[in-house]
Amino acid sequence: MNIGVIGAGYVGITTSVAFAKYGHKVFVMDQDPTKISMMKQNRLPFYEDGLENEFQQLQLNGNLLFTGDLEECIRKSDYIFIAVGTPSSPQGEADLSYVEAAARSIGGLLNDYKIIVIKSTVPVGTGDHIKKIIGSAIAEKDKKIPFDLVSNPEFLREGKALEDALHPERIVIGCEPGPCQKAMERLYKDVSSTILFTSVRDAEMIKYASNAFLAAKISFINELARLCEKTGANINEVAKGMGLDSRIGPQFLRAGIGYGGSCFPKDLKALLAMASEKKTPMDILTAVSNVNDTQAEWFLEKVIDALGPLEGKQIALLGLTFKPQTDDIREASSLRIIDFLLHKKAIITAFDPKGTENMKKIYPDILYASSPLAAVKNAEAILVVTEWNEIVEMDWEKAKVLASGSHLFDGRNALDPSAMKRAGFIYKGVGISSF
Ligand code: NAD
Ligand code: UGA
Repeated sequence: MNIGVIGAGYVGITTSVAFAKYGHKVFVMDQDPTKISMMKQNRLPFYEDGLENEFQQLQLNGNLLFTGDLEECIRKSDYIFIAVGTPSSPQGEADLSYVEAAARSIGGLLNDYKIIVIKSTVPVGTGDHIKKIIGSAIAEKDKKIPFDLVSNPEFLREGKALEDALHPERIVIGCEPGPCQKAMERLYKDVSSTILFTSVRDAEMIKYASNAFLAAKISFINELARLCEKTGANINEVAKGMGLDSRIGPQFLRAGIGYGGSCFPKDLKALLAMASEKKTPMDILTAVSNVNDTQAEWFLEKVIDALGPLEGKQIALLGLTFKPQTDDIREASSLRIIDFLLHKKAIITAFDPKGTENMKKIYPDILYASSPLAAVKNAEAILVVTEWNEIVEMDWEKAKVLASGSHLFDGRNALDPSAMKRAGFIYKGVGISSF
């Protein structure tokens, strides 16, 4: 099949690599000329674990092509995927301007029947809205060109993006039954995942519902962690015990300093905005968001309790990205933590294996170290923010010698408390009481 993908971001590129690996020919289009020229030079515009090798191979074998020319992308494709961003608007709802702009351009350039697939995460009803935009753009050209509109939301995780795109647990496709559904079946015929065909609106809601449910699991365990500390229980053991019940499951029960990333915070806001527009209060999801918004500050109170005023105190921040194996810092908990520490006039030395360059664009003036050990040198306290292997597995005995203080705050419960105590640290995790 020939597939056009509009938007060369995390989702657009990963999806393109996966389709190309399944033998399709993929034309990736982006409006950002810098991205196109980087990709033509066989370089990925972002870091994603394990993606670059496949990307380079597929470009060499001719299954993955890049263009800044939308007309070329449309002309050569049978399926056109829209994978542009849907960031939060200032009011919290999904900003659809990129999807709308892409739809208008597609409608204006459509030459014959195509299947247009929305991969971006969009509010329920967007499919119908986009169908009208494309239809009007076609009519403005005095043309009558048939097309089908499909919703095929993406469930990949950053850090495991390629694996998720190649072997998704499920594929959700919202479309009309009949020839369009058959064409979507053909597109995914070599993927051995369960395909659920639904209406477009159901598919759109499944995406938001899934992210909101996962976010709810995290806020649930984080709220419980706060109580564990007061009652003498250990949240890690509690989560393990809960997760053994297959109705609950062990995943997304890791307590920490809150979820970040380009999707959970934004998608929860968009779902709440949708609910508010429909005058349907969502108490659970409001609470999920509130717990997350206060989790980092709740954790930082431990730092203040231990160190007193932070002015002039040197703090090592280990990990900046919203999770390991990515360079993405969008809505990362580290941003809240840096803001807080700078407000308290602490001196920050930060380390991250992949996120430093992105963070420097926001905070050019804090100190960045080239290794975790260099970051902890002379630090009065160490905060683990992201559980990169480089951080979790560093020589913590050496770190204790290099640091000037003994306080170690593990915001991801990634370290072994007993080993840290043996190394001489005063260890504090999330929801691990000292009873
Ligand atoms: P991104 O910001 O990394 O990339 C979006 C790309 O679209 C950019 O390169 C931008 O230049 C391009 N673009 C915008 N408007 C365009 C236009 N009119 N024509 C051509 N190119 C255009 O975004 P992302 O993280 O890949 O997310 C894309 C969508 O997928 C969002 O709706 C997001 O919620 C959803 N999603 C993201 C993830 C993830 O892990 N990042 C996972 C699942 C779903
Ligand atoms: C998430 C979903 O997992 C994907 O299915 C979805 O496609 C994607 O959002 C999206 O729509 O963009 P992602 O944000 O890449 O994927 O990463 P996750 O692994 O879900 O982690 C999100 C955040 O939750 C991270 O900050 C992570 O540290 C935190 N988290 C995760 C916890 O605090 N505890 C957990 O138990 C799990």
